[in-house]
Amino acid sequence: MSTKQEMMLMALAVKQGLIQKEQVQECMDLQAAIKEAKGVDLPLVQIALKKKYLTPEQAQNLAGGGGPVDIPGVGDSVSIEDARRIPIFEVEREIGAGGMAQVFLARNKQSGARCALKILYPKHVSNKKFVERFIREGRLLKEFESENIAKGYDYGVVGKDSPHPLYFMSMEFIDGPSIQDLLDRDGPFDEQKSIYVITEAARALAYMQERGVVHRDVKPDNIMWAGDGRVMLVDLGFAAPIRKDLVGQYEDETCGTVQYISPEQARGMADLDIRADIYSLGATLYHMVVGELPFTGKDSMEVMAKQVMEGLDALKLKGGKISVHMHYFIEKMMSKDRDFRYQTAREVVDDVTEVLQGAADLQYNPENDPSSPFMLGNPNASQRITGHSTGKFAPIRNTSVRTTAVPPTGSVRKPPVAGTTSNTSSIRKPPIKPGTSVRLPSAGTSVRLPGAPPTNPGQKSVRLPAPRKPGH
Ligand SMILES: Nc1ncnc2c1ncn2[C@@H]1O[C@H](COP(=O)(O)OP(=O)(O)O)[C@@H](O)[C@H]1O
Ligand SMILES: [Mg+2]
Repeated sequence: MSTKQEMMLMALAVKQGLIQKEQVQECMDLQAAIKEAKGVDLPLVQIALKKKYLTPEQAQNLAGGGGPVDIPGVGDSVSIEDARRIPIFEVEREIGAGGMAQVFLARNKQSGARCALKILYPKHVSNKKFVERFIREGRLLKEFESENIAKGYDYGVVGKDSPHPLYFMSMEFIDGPSIQDLLDRDGPFDEQKSIYVITEAARALAYMQERGVVHRDVKPDNIMWAGDGRVMLVDLGFAAPIRKDLVGQYEDETCGTVQYISPEQARGMADLDIRADIYSLGATLYHMVVGELPFTGKDSMEVMAKQVMEGLDALKLKGGKISVHMHYFIEKMMSKDRDFRYQTAREVVDDVTEVLQGAADLQYNPENDPSSPFMLGNPNASQRITGHSTGKFAPIRNTSVRTTAVPPTGSVRKPPVAGTTSNTSSIRKPPIKPGTSVRLPSAGTSVRLPGAPPTNPGQKSVRLPAPRKPGH
């Protein structure tokens, strides 16, 4: 059924002579037929676009008339021709796309330097908040000097007062896949490799934390593995100053990606700090080693409610797949209560490094791994993987969202207690004997985590698998 809003848009389009009445009628008939056959509600504008009765620009203008109206399929891409309107770059090809922007491989005409050119989707240019965030990202990238964050070069806007302004930023080009690309291609990561990636990403977070900034959208899509061996955190589009002064306050909307979002973010708390990123990094680690998302649901609200209230699936964590060390890292990072997580990103790096000193099996050197995207070891492995999936694990496409927070009612404030769910705060650190090599227990060994109360009273032990072969 056509909504009142889209009927008004169509009436406007007819009035402006962009489309004929008969064509609108044909689109409406098609819409009804698709609804009947597939149960899908396609917006009229999208159908008119498909039939080429409207151009993307016309559709965008119609939508833009009354402020930022989000019509699926309209204004959520930037063509290479559009990108070429920015005079300072030679644009080569598209290399990535996210929820906010499209990214191209380009060259600065003056310096000849290769760069990644990120351009805000047209549908967001009328949203002041999005434009501000985009510009803040450009500024932060330019200020930051970290091995694990792409260096920012230029940022600005072309045609600011025209109907189609292009907000852009250029930055160091990262020649390599994202962690999501690798998950789509190969399925779950070996523990060694995932720990390496997470520790390197934590270094980027430590750098940001030391400058009073929280990322707010850490996830596999936003971590890239460059051909020169560096693991890099990208997409500072939601990065914001840490606001300690907002303790006890809530925001109407929250941002991030619900599958990786921290409980405090899901509840819309305003005083977010680096511990929110540490939770998302833990959720990323979970996804990397388990090969599945920690929480799923029929919609964003259900997933966010689970982030707030539901414990991790003990079976997936202890059901024979992952080591006691990995279990500890994940539980500690994903504690519902941020006071029980690592308190700083530097602590993540230090603790993981310390625990691994005693676990030779979890040591990883990308230079010795021919399957890593490390260019020196394997020149072919650094090629970007796009639109390719093995089908082993269905690609999970989740874009960053603005969404309504789970209401901060008393019932969801407390983290779950041990006994019914996995209590992320009670797990203790596995013992380390610095300098000695500790092998993971072999298959079938029952190990009780030292000092930790059993999370399930009926199940006192953790079953551990045989160490898996390296070389994911
Ligand atoms: N510096 C870069 N070099 C190469 N590819 C990049 C770079 N930055 C981003 N990308 C690619 O583009 C995608 C979208 O960029 P991102 O900054 O995440 O945009 P969004 O804010 O829309 O999510 C990323 O997931 C990544 O694949
Ligand atoms: Mg992104």
